[in-house]
Amino acid sequence: MTEKNIVILISGSGSNMAAIADAARGGQWERRHGARVAAVISNRPAAGGLSLARERGIATQVVDHTAFDGREAFDAALMAEIDRHRPTLVVLAGFMRILTPGFVRHYEGRLVNIHPSLLPAFPGLQTHQRAIEAGCRFAGCTVHRVTAELDHGEYLEQAVVPVLPGDTPASLAERVLSQEHLVYPRAIERLLARPALNP
Ligand code: GRF
Repeated sequence: MTEKNIVILISGSGSNMAAIADAARGGQWERRHGARVAAVISNRPAAGGLSLARERGIATQVVDHTAFDGREAFDAALMAEIDRHRPTLVVLAGFMRILTPGFVRHYEGRLVNIHPSLLPAFPGLQTHQRAIEAGCRFAGCTVHRVTAELDHGEYLEQAVVPVLPGDTPASLAERVLSQEHLVYPRAIERLLARPALNP
């Protein structure tokens, strides 16, 4: 079986990353798919997810975007760091940087993201607040392939939750996040099980 390395990019608390890493171990992805989480890379040195990764025995790196003069230079350094792991899949998990078209092209077919809305509704930021303000009865999350256009690309999984009376952006975010932790590992495992990741 060819070895499939997964590299996960984070910026913050890393709960999706942890859910994926735990699913990989619990679901025996190494034995069943030849897949392992090879590294977790953060653009923020203080990202809480870095310690969650270390606790799980996963190699971590920081590529601090503030140390670079512009997006192109940052993305080039990030790509170099990612490519050391020869990734089959690059997983954006709460990675809060807009990537350059060159980066997206470089990982075309191997790059996935989770977005906390039911795309195509509410691409971009503050999705929960916008869903509440729009009077949506349902909200959710979407796992999708990454293309040059922000929060577009083939949808791989979605999950739906109700918007409840009195919901705040924080309470809705929490309900959506618990679903993210289920659908993201599931979407990745389905990709790993395909004969080719990008048929
Ligand atoms: C998630 O809601 C994700 O969809 C969004 O940022 C949040 C990251 O949470 N892009 P975590 O870092 O995985 O805990």
